[in-house]
Amino acid sequence: MTFNSAEFEFACGTSSQLPQSTKPEVIFSGKSNVGKSSLINKLCGRKALARISSKPGKTATINFFDVDDFHLVDLPGYGYAKVSKAEKQRWAELMEGYFDQERAFCLVVQLLDMRHKPTQDDIGMISFLHNSGLPYIVVLTKLDKLKKSEVNKNLAMIGETLKEFDDIRLFPFSAQTGEGAESIIGVINESVEE
Ligand code: GTP
Ligand code: MG
Repeated sequence: MTFNSAEFEFACGTSSQLPQSTKPEVIFSGKSNVGKSSLINKLCGRKALARISSKPGKTATINFFDVDDFHLVDLPGYGYAKVSKAEKQRWAELMEGYFDQERAFCLVVQLLDMRHKPTQDDIGMISFLHNSGLPYIVVLTKLDKLKKSEVNKNLAMIGETLKEFDDIRLFPFSAQTGEGAESIIGVINESVEE
């Protein structure tokens, strides 16, 4: 099953432009280039619903996609060194403005690149999610870029780096092969039904 009725609805660049929260929101968070937009496209069974790019910093706005009874929310990525100070400030204002609002937050899908150790920014974001009490899962992207022998090793390395966060749920995923998509769709469906 995919969310193939998904349609792009709204993009906002400042928190004052945020639309009213009318449906449960499933949010995609992670550093630039980790694969947020690619994951959304895969879950929706579409090639170019969310714009993707090999250059980091492609999604600079919060983008809302309508899927029947919920919204998918594509957040702009963090941690890209080459953006200006002003742009970093705009990002921070947008994120704080979004998470401070009374919205129907349903699930945060936090993405990490499965090839690498989580960065300080990643750990900061996961700490924020953990402390806020928002339900979240961690999707490990670019599974197809790892050799078979590296998969379990990296899973253990990432689990070890995040061991302070109890009960963290890790979902390896590849946007290229679609491996892992069904499990993520299952968790999203459960969270929306709750
Ligand atoms: P920003 O919008 O800049 O924050 O990036 P993003 O997190 O939305 O990443 P995006 O989906 O645009 O993907 C970035 C690059 O990684 C693109 O070239 C994608 O094709 C590639 N990519 C994403 N996921 C995967 C994956 O699972 N496997 C492989 N091989 N490439 C991937
Ligand atoms: Mg993107």
